[in-house]
Amino acid sequence: MLPTGPQLRLLQLLSCVTLVLLLQVTDAKKDLKSACTTCQQVTDNFNKGFDRTAKQNFGGGNTAWEERTLSKYETSEIRLMEIVEGLCDSSSFECNRMLEEHEDHFETWWFKRKTKHPDLHKWFCIDTVKVCCPKGTFGPDCNACVGGSDAPCHRNGQCDGDGTRGGNGKCSCDHGYEGEFCLDCIDGYFNEVRNDTFSLCTECHSSCKTCTGATNQDCDECKDGWEDDEQEACVDVNECSADPSPCEEEQYCLNTEGSYSCSACDKVCSGCTAAGPDKCRACAAGYQDTEGTCTDIDECSQPEPVCTKEHEQCVNTEGSHVCVCSSGYEKQEGECVQTLQPEKEEESEASETTTSPKEEL
Ligand SMILES: *[C@@H]1O[C@H](CO)[C@@H](O)[C@H](O)[C@H]1NC(C)=O
Repeated sequence: MLPTGPQLRLLQLLSCVTLVLLLQVTDAKKDLKSACTTCQQVTDNFNKGFDRTAKQNFGGGNTAWEERTLSKYETSEIRLMEIVEGLCDSSSFECNRMLEEHEDHFETWWFKRKTKHPDLHKWFCIDTVKVCCPKGTFGPDCNACVGGSDAPCHRNGQCDGDGTRGGNGKCSCDHGYEGEFCLDCIDGYFNEVRNDTFSLCTECHSSCKTCTGATNQDCDECKDGWEDDEQEACVDVNECSADPSPCEEEQYCLNTEGSYSCSACDKVCSGCTAAGPDKCRACAAGYQDTEGTCTDIDECSQPEPVCTKEHEQCVNTEGSHVCVCSSGYEKQEGECVQTLQPEKEEESEASETTTSPKEEL
């Protein structure tokens, strides 16, 4: 039976509530981590404030008075207040909320616990407010990270929530490592040292896809662009020696380690083996081979004239030539004709303006 109107609305409401709850749970998890970060900042600032006020006193007065009172300032409420004032940035909402909520604890620690528990972070953040965990542990009960609290993620990764009451203790491995325990090596890396609790992954030779050692003879499989030679070592493939060449006709091929590149031939070439006018397979049209280098042909100094029309002149250009009219002549319909003396422009314009209205009529 399909849900009816009211039932449908109830279902929608329920799914909304579930979604909100889910969001709150993920939010709360993030909060657990950030609460510890805030607490860490507060205690760091406390220690800084403690150092800053170390040489201070009640201020003013003569030296004798200071000497009598200095020891008292060291442990005084005034000094505590001066330190507490600098614990939070006024803009940090979380910090100020934490301070407001737990200000009494600082007083308790200052006057009653400091001697026995000199580590404020441990006493305050871990043991009293319980927003942090000892290093190498995570979550509400401060369970040990994968790999143990002494070597979270076997020192090859980051334990989620490490040192906080949040997270799930799972590892994100450093580059080169993988697996739940960060003891395995990713492709391109090999285990230089390995036992149940320790793993050192080192990068393979650049020719290997996978390997068991550091040289090109230790590859399990060669990378693309590399191939096995007779000694079972991975060596560079010379892609340029392939027939046909992997490059275009007007390009030359350049072999590189593990790859190759194609570059354009010199413009004087028709095909080439490398860069430059002296590396052509043949010369391009308009160029000739002069002692192994392709050079421009001067069409205008050929025994047979190339510009044959009357009053025409030959001008050589790079790779070609043009036929232009001699001075005093201009091209009209393919012929060089004598240039006319310029007419008086005003007269012709005036006649035009007088003729156009007539045309309209
Ligand atoms: C594993 O190897 C490391 C480094 O070589 C060594 O310090 C450690 O004692 C070894 N552990 C075991 C269980 O063999």
